[in-house]
Amino acid sequence: MHKDCERIMLTEEQLRARVKEVALEIDKLYEGKRPLVVGILKGSIIFYSDFIRHLTVPVELDFMAVSSYGSGAVSSGKLNIKKDLDRDVKGRDVIIVEDIIDSGFTLANLKVLLSERGAASVRIVTLLNKLERREYDIEPDFNCFDIENEFVIGYGLDYNEHYRSLPYIGILKRSVYEK
Ligand code: IMP
Ligand code: MG
Repeated sequence: MHKDCERIMLTEEQLRARVKEVALEIDKLYEGKRPLVVGILKGSIIFYSDFIRHLTVPVELDFMAVSSYGSGAVSSGKLNIKKDLDRDVKGRDVIIVEDIIDSGFTLANLKVLLSERGAASVRIVTLLNKLERREYDIEPDFNCFDIENEFVIGYGLDYNEHYRSLPYIGILKRSVYEK
């Protein structure tokens, strides 16, 4: 385990099994369709790549980079589009793939934006859901794990761009960000 981890919250095995389970459920729902799978950079990349490899329906891949957080662990309260989609979402069935829903600010805003651009449908799949922290009225259509209110890292998630490549989800030691 990484020295900055308090403990491991979700192991590689738990992640692998649950991501597969959720992906197969979503695959059934989109039978006969060709969804546009939108990954929210950068936190979702590992979840995204594991998720899409379980899909048998044809998919098109696209990405957006947005920020609601600055460099630290406190939300700045403003959605900033740093990289927009390459594809037009008009008439498309969109699946947004997110790493974690915290306050809900990012996804509440994104869902409205993509609907306004004329998407036929917009569904959200998230790896983690911090229910206790919710401030905006948004729920994922698919959620792999409900987690308690802890700052987590690994499997794509970062703190100040560190720890994304850890293969598990760990709880970051408070001493790292409460300096
Ligand atoms: P929201 O807009 O408040 O829902 O924030 C969602 C974004 O905040 C996520 O996409 C993450 O980038 C970031 N975030 C929230 N909680 C954590 C955490 O525990 N670890 C790492 N990033 C987090
Ligand atoms: Mg993120």
